[in-house]
Amino acid sequence: VGAVVVAATVTLSLGATPAAATGRGSGHGGAGGGPGAPGAGDNYFPAAGNGGYDVLHYGLDIRYEPSSRAFVGVATIDARATERLSRFNLDLRGFEVRSVTLDGRSARYDRDGQELRVSPARGLARGERFTVVVRYDGTTGRPTDAEGALYGWVSTPDGSFVANEPDGASTWYPVNDHPTDKAGYDFRITVPAGKTAVANGELLDQRTSKGWTTFVWRARDPMASYLSTASVGDYDLRRSTGPHGLPIIDAVDRDLGPDAADGLARTREMISFFADLFGRYPFTSYGAIVDDDSDAGYALETQTRPIYSGPPSEGTVAHELAHQWYGNSVSPARWQDIWLNEGFASYAEWLWEEHTGGPTAQQQFDTAYARPATAGFWNPPPGDPGATNLFAGSVYTKGAMTLHALRTKIGDRAFFTLLRTWYSANRNGTASTADLVRLAEKVSKRQLDGFFQTWLYTPGKPTSW
Ligand code: ARG
Ligand code: ZN
Repeated sequence: VGAVVVAATVTLSLGATPAAATGRGSGHGGAGGGPGAPGAGDNYFPAAGNGGYDVLHYGLDIRYEPSSRAFVGVATIDARATERLSRFNLDLRGFEVRSVTLDGRSARYDRDGQELRVSPARGLARGERFTVVVRYDGTTGRPTDAEGALYGWVSTPDGSFVANEPDGASTWYPVNDHPTDKAGYDFRITVPAGKTAVANGELLDQRTSKGWTTFVWRARDPMASYLSTASVGDYDLRRSTGPHGLPIIDAVDRDLGPDAADGLARTREMISFFADLFGRYPFTSYGAIVDDDSDAGYALETQTRPIYSGPPSEGTVAHELAHQWYGNSVSPARWQDIWLNEGFASYAEWLWEEHTGGPTAQQQFDTAYARPATAGFWNPPPGDPGATNLFAGSVYTKGAMTLHALRTKIGDRAFFTLLRTWYSANRNGTASTADLVRLAEKVSKRQLDGFFQTWLYTPGKPTSW
């Protein structure tokens, strides 16, 4: 590897505290406390995340060389124990771990599958803040998720395509890899001069020395790990300004033709449209990463900076933008609730299309509803698609139809109040389908259990609701 890495001493000043502290541990509370749970308690991904602590901030210092795929990382993690701990886990797949320290003292560690177990020299008290530094390195590859799609740190011919949903952040840094533990992030990414490294948030610094360029990005708003990115490539950075001076930074692959960014042209207008409908834009900046050589074949709503596998359509851009409210600011409490992301973003796409002279949301619903009851389209039920079907078409389209059917049932006034309140009540946090049902009932003053049972949990085509 041969690269020398100096640990970033990231001074942390986190504006917001994560709204959702997990604290779902199996600590025994004995004399020295027990081990933190190896998972956050997700029924679809039991090993994802961990119990016993809450991460406040990640400082990720990465050196990456695309031609050899050599990766050297130093992760500085500031956290708070939520129970007495003798030991706790992080999630990390692959790599050689070189050292782990806790508050500057070396800590023992071992590894078991995706679990990196850290045993500090002394136990941690409930509520105690601590800093873990993990030094690790290796050669990156092209990992795939439970459905066989490329995800995580995907090495590409010109760099990397980094998209972690649902549990792929652990393919490039040690992490409490579950949306219930949001944190602020600072990135220092060093790449061969000429390459561009793009992460979430704002670019604070870029400097080249001795053939390497270091890009410093900061994402101060609480962020779920699946939404973090650090994509490297032959990108041009383009700066513009959105509504109310919002900084927009787009990264577009230099090999793509001049029309590669056409789908992004109305971004500013879209932000205003969605802010009027949902509430103000959630984060401190926005932009896009348009990559062309990952073969991932999908886009991801990486926070503040969605990543696209090739030039996106305007509809896809609207979809990923809508996720900034629904998915990113309000995140699913567990992966089973994925329709809260995909159904909402797909419905927002319909609203944008209607706004710009395309088919109305009602027409979109009618077209989809015209499909025969025998079509595979109606399954799996969006409220429980299964861990290997998170991104099934029904999660998107039947999810969007659920919202439209709800709108026609409770009326526009209650429906749009629900959309706004869902965001304002849960921003920077996580929420579940049960929370949505409760809020919809409160806003509409209707009993809606049967309605949601039919649309979200019953296989097949709904006939009455
Ligand atoms: N959430 C992405 C979207 O906006 C889809 C991600 C697909 N991810 C995957 N691992 N297959 O639609
Ligand atoms: Zn989506």
